Amino acid sequence: MEIGIITVRELEYNPGDLEDVKRAAEAMGIGTVPFYLDSASLSIGGNVEVALWGGHDERRRPSFTAAFLRHIGSPRSIDVFLFRVWILKAMEAGGVYVSNPVDAWLTAHSKIGALTVLARHGVPVPPTRIAEDPLILHREAQKLGRLMVKPIRGFMGFGAVNFDNPEEAMPYYVHAHSTASVMLAQAYLEGAKTGDYRVVVVGGQVIGAVRRYGGGPRHNVAQGAHVEPIEVEEDLASVAIRAADALGLDFAGIDVIANGDRYFVVDVNPTFSWQGFKRATGINPAIHIVKLILEKARR
Ligand SMILES: Nc1ncnc2c1ncn2[C@@H]1O[C@H](COP(=O)(O)OP(=O)(O)O)[C@@H](O)[C@H]1O
Ligand SMILES: [Mg+2]
Repeated sequence: MEIGIITVRELEYNPGDLEDVKRAAEAMGIGTVPFYLDSASLSIGGNVEVALWGGHDERRRPSFTAAFLRHIGSPRSIDVFLFRVWILKAMEAGGVYVSNPVDAWLTAHSKIGALTVLARHGVPVPPTRIAEDPLILHREAQKLGRLMVKPIRGFMGFGAVNFDNPEEAMPYYVHAHSTASVMLAQAYLEGAKTGDYRVVVVGGQVIGAVRRYGGGPRHNVAQGAHVEPIEVEEDLASVAIRAADALGLDFAGIDVIANGDRYFVVDVNPTFSWQGFKRATGINPAIHIVKLILEKARR
């Protein structure tokens, strides 16, 4: 048996994660094979078939029945985005167990989808406003006070900007609008001043968590935050498990802020990097993820 690793030929920001997945699979006697969405084709006729092209004349049907969905790259057009999503859907329909499952991945992949689903399921999230038009967003967000403004598909803290005064955010909305981005404005949770939590959930269970601090206002490892392992108290575990469960994710890195007497989920990542987490906790998420994928694929 083999596990496919679904990604693109573009730059991989954290190749260490993919190495971990490869090694975890190898240790279980399972091979891995990359599947590059940007080199794939879809043939639609009597049936629907996905193929991977290695060169001008090397066409291969995927040999795997289970796959780790790393990410879909950064499609800069709606066409490319749709094509890559439909390749994934065709793979699933053809009997490959894709993890995270494509629809769940899609919903969680944007902060719009994630926050909407979490709010509907009663998972606490910060007050958030989203609009395309800069003036509408400004009007909606004005009363939220101190803000975190983020692109709806940001990552690793790149793009999230803090505004102490919501009046100062308008030029940022205007700039985002001119580049066809959609931004969200979110109430800044004061509890984040001392740091936040990254909780890793795999298969409905917390496999570990860290406190991240000193990267503020964005406590991402990529923004220079320090990371320390923590004992996960029940309320924190519960909010993270509920978030992953609400979104139907097999695995996720969940960012949580303790504010007042409650935990708020600010970010759910169906694709996440775990090198900082792994160094701090000694826990390798790849092992848990590969095990889960194999279990699910065998069902
Ligand atoms: N509403 C908020 N209030 C305070 N801090 C926040 C808020 N939202 C995000 N942050 C901080 O900014 C970081 C990056 O935001 P996040 O939503 O996780 O975006 P990204 O996708 O870039 O990781 C978080 O890890 C957290 O430390
Ligand atoms: Mg985050």
